[in-house]
Amino acid sequence: MVSAESLDFHGSYPDDVVVSVENVYKIFKTHELEVVALSGVSLQILEGKIMAMVGPSGSGKTTLTNIIGGITKATVGKVYWANLRSDITKLSERVLTEARRSFIGFIFQVNNLLPHLNAWQNVELAARIAGVPKKVRQERVDRLIKLVGLEERRRNKATTLSGGERSRIAIASSLVNLIDTEGKGIVLCDEPTGDLDPETAQRILELFKELNETLGTSFFIVTHSQQVASMADATVEIRDGIVSGVHQLGINLDDLGGTRIVKLDNNYRLPMPTDLLEIAGNPSEFIISYENDRFILVPQVGELAERVVKLRTCRVCGQEIAQGKFICANCGSTV
Ligand SMILES: Nc1ncnc2c1ncn2[C@@H]1O[C@H](COP(=O)(O)OP(=O)(O)OP(=O)(O)O)[C@@H](O)[C@H]1O
Ligand SMILES: [Mg+2]
Repeated sequence: MVSAESLDFHGSYPDDVVVSVENVYKIFKTHELEVVALSGVSLQILEGKIMAMVGPSGSGKTTLTNIIGGITKATVGKVYWANLRSDITKLSERVLTEARRSFIGFIFQVNNLLPHLNAWQNVELAARIAGVPKKVRQERVDRLIKLVGLEERRRNKATTLSGGERSRIAIASSLVNLIDTEGKGIVLCDEPTGDLDPETAQRILELFKELNETLGTSFFIVTHSQQVASMADATVEIRDGIVSGVHQLGINLDDLGGTRIVKLDNNYRLPMPTDLLEIAGNPSEFIISYENDRFILVPQVGELAERVVKLRTCRVCGQEIAQGKFICANCGSTV
């Protein structure tokens, strides 16, 4: 057990926050190379909600999923778990493993079932590994097999099951502890429907939604699929290790601009949507102003030096003179 004193207590989190990621950086160091996989990511997953994450290959989705699940340590930043009411990045592996059991369920990109075991035995093995006590294990596995609709196939070896059925086993396995936690728990899925046909994928998604509604479990789903993204309560876009957009509801992957909200990071940096930049001819410099409740970004073309010469300054006090103005706003001199 973890004593309350050993934890960095965060009383200030609202009760409905299940996981909070705060300004997380992850740098992988190999022999000669440093890869910045995450560069200041912040997000909050709320109780009973489904959050989807979309982004190109290599953008940091799997890295972030593993950091949320506490199996990869963030290089910098905090990861808050509601069950511990604490930042987990400073906790020992032993404490984390124990806390993870009743809080996190994983569905991995490659689902790793044992081929010689049948459906029921695979879930039972997951329950055993996850420390479900022997006296409740059988009953719980029965319940899970029923929940994911595999009763008829429970004695079939994993090798004889379809992709969708194997996914169901993976889902049941991820829930072996969460099923009894009454909502406080989260399932992390890395492209759960990636190699399924659309119809099977749809059935798996309906199952997620059903579990989400009946158990109150939260879901964090990495996906490339429109199907998944459109049923999420919120969708986060990630690009080059930064959160480049947030959508409050399910989204249309072909029209992200329609619902996107961009957020300042902890250093007041705003991610520019690449689709809009492309339309504008990929400018890299802007003049920014604020008028009538709107920020206005005017792309700048040409060399910076060229434009600096054109900027006018007051000869008396050195103040910059706005275009079209002939009186210095600072000292009142005529320019
Ligand atoms: N263990 C590691 N060591 C070094 N670099 C890594 C490691 N794991 C990931 N990376 C790098 O970090 C970046 C993010 O990788 P990640 O696996 O999180 O991407 P992803 O968004 O999940 O991609 P995909 O959609 O292809 O699964 C990539 O540049 C990757 O090469
Ligand atoms: Mg990945």
